[in-house]
Amino acid sequence: FFTGVVALDGPSGTGKSTVARQLAQRLGAQYLDTGAMYRAATVAVLKAGVDPADAAAVASTVSRIDLRVSTDPVQPSTVLNGVPIDEEIRSPQTTAAVSAVSAVAAVRTQLVAQQRDLINTGPTVAEGRDIASVVWPTAEVKVYLTASEQVRAARRAGELDGASVDSVRADLRRRDVLDASRATSPLRRADGALELDTSALSIDEVVTELYELAEQAA
Ligand code: C5P
Repeated sequence: FFTGVVALDGPSGTGKSTVARQLAQRLGAQYLDTGAMYRAATVAVLKAGVDPADAAAVASTVSRIDLRVSTDPVQPSTVLNGVPIDEEIRSPQTTAAVSAVSAVAAVRTQLVAQQRDLINTGPTVAEGRDIASVVWPTAEVKVYLTASEQVRAARRAGELDGASVDSVRADLRRRDVLDASRATSPLRRADGALELDTSALSIDEVVTELYELAEQAA
């Protein structure tokens, strides 16, 4: 059985989270949603009334948070200072500010250390932007998921009630540009990561493909 780490990176709307969760269940592994952690840090920044563009204030606020995440793939959860924030981390306000918060180097150092501690506790499917490049370069399986912008926008709009594909596409494009152009750990395919275009694939097909890769690596 699988005892290692699967690193799943890529932009949003590629089916990454759904795939990672299902794969973790099939492998009997932990599921680590690193995006949820950057979102939780963002919730803390917004709750404190701090400007997400003020890097020093962001770093200082985030250094004081108590962030607990459950890595159970059946019921992942994010708890900030004792309060569950699973809905807040998906709010439009959080989504709008998360790229600025996650671009702060001190925030990344802190959260990457916490991510490594979590991965160290057992076999893990970890998803994010920098798992294979920074968090866990020795992962047995490294996959970079992509999909066309149109497909990604349609998928995200389907998850968000009432959002138009056009507005979602504009938001995705803005976040992709910020995530790929930041100085610290920009979004990119890591050396040795297999690129998988999911535009024409179902979630099941992607999960099956990754499961086979994990079995081969076990
Ligand atoms: O995957 P998700 O959409 O929840 O990620 C939210 C944001 O968190 C991304 O747009 C990115 O700015 C940031 N992020 C990151 N590094 C990760 C995971 C997420 O910078 N490993």
